[in-house]
Amino acid sequence: MRILVTGGAGYIGSHTVLSLQQAGHEVVVIDNLVNSSAESLRRVAELSGTPAVFHRADLVDESAVDAVFAGHAIDAVIHFAGLKAVGESVREPLHYYYNNLVGTLNLLRVMDRRGVRSIVFSSSATVYGEHNPVPYLEKMEIGANNPYGRTKEQVEDILADLGAADSRWQIALLRYFNPVGAHPSGRIGEDPQGVPNNLVPFIAQVAVGRREKLMVFGGDYDTPDGTCQRDYIHVVDLADGHVAALDHITGRPGVYRWNLGSGKGSSVLEVLRAFEKAAGKRIPYEITGRRSGDLPAFWADASSALADLSWSTTRTVDQMCEDHWRWQKNNPQGY
Ligand code: NAD
Ligand code: UFG
Repeated sequence: MRILVTGGAGYIGSHTVLSLQQAGHEVVVIDNLVNSSAESLRRVAELSGTPAVFHRADLVDESAVDAVFAGHAIDAVIHFAGLKAVGESVREPLHYYYNNLVGTLNLLRVMDRRGVRSIVFSSSATVYGEHNPVPYLEKMEIGANNPYGRTKEQVEDILADLGAADSRWQIALLRYFNPVGAHPSGRIGEDPQGVPNNLVPFIAQVAVGRREKLMVFGGDYDTPDGTCQRDYIHVVDLADGHVAALDHITGRPGVYRWNLGSGKGSSVLEVLRAFEKAAGKRIPYEITGRRSGDLPAFWADASSALADLSWSTTRTVDQMCEDHWRWQKNNPQGY
């Protein structure tokens, strides 16, 4: 198939472009490069042997999106493009709602007009909010507790309404847990701008000497070692999950929701130790106060994706850290 990947120059998008190409699909990318570099796509081409077609365009510009569809016979869309920093979304809610909602609405309107009614959407475990018990199941009531998470929830609602109104739509809502790691080649990986918000990119920058030490946000949670537990998923497993979801929905109209996670929690200190082992060095850290909004522990119930997609994670936290470290060591300043 010919797949349009929005946000394809970004972290998860670039790994997914590679997985799609390796599965035999043709790929067209739209990205405005607000949080990425076109170098990622050059390197994906180097790994796959086939360049993806790249359009630098902003989804909030509907005519630019339409022009891309006019130029290519697109069969399906994987929609990654969006802003994703929780803290920034609290400070700049209008910017987040505008980018993530208007961008998605433009995309869906163009798709509908042009008869492309197959979409895989990047949702997030953050939609489960604060009130659900772990492990999280797709059928639970959702309710995010920050503007970023609410944009994900709202797009899920829009897509569910669309699927209910028009039975031709094939829609997958993928709720990612915590993606980390990099392609094992060390050529592509996560390249955060400024101070990393997320744990593993921060640890990696300490390991490579760009930052002095890791601040562990809270050591007094009611968890086995006092630090928060999350469900880390290797980005290549996550990318392959998109290919599996796309295969499943093709020819099967409906609205599907799948958790993409390992089903297992790891603590901040466990991840730190795994990274130390991968990098072969001590990583200085200090336990500080809790970060506002953090939940003590959550992980996926990953059984639906296994049952429906025959997909499950295959890579361990050790492999995530080894691959993340190879990328960081070979590209100390990112792209
Ligand atoms: P990323 O920032 O690396 O990738 C997002 C890409 O979208 C970037 O390349 C950015 O330039 C592009 N983009 C943003 N707004 C755009 C717009 N208006 N028009 C065109 N391009 C635009 O982030 P990522 O980690 O690869 O995340 C991909 C998706 O997965 C996002 O929707 C994110 O919210 C979601 N997600 C990520 C995580 C995570 O921890 N990384 C977890 C759950 C869900
Ligand atoms: N942490 C630290 N120090 C840091 C960074 C993080 O101790 O410098 C801790 C956090 O307190 C948390 C854990 O490491 O306990 C993981 O934090 P991340 O920021 O890496 O990940 P979150 O679980 O907070 O959130 C991530 C994404 C969200 C997404 C969510 C889905 O940032 O966008 O996973 O599960 F929605």
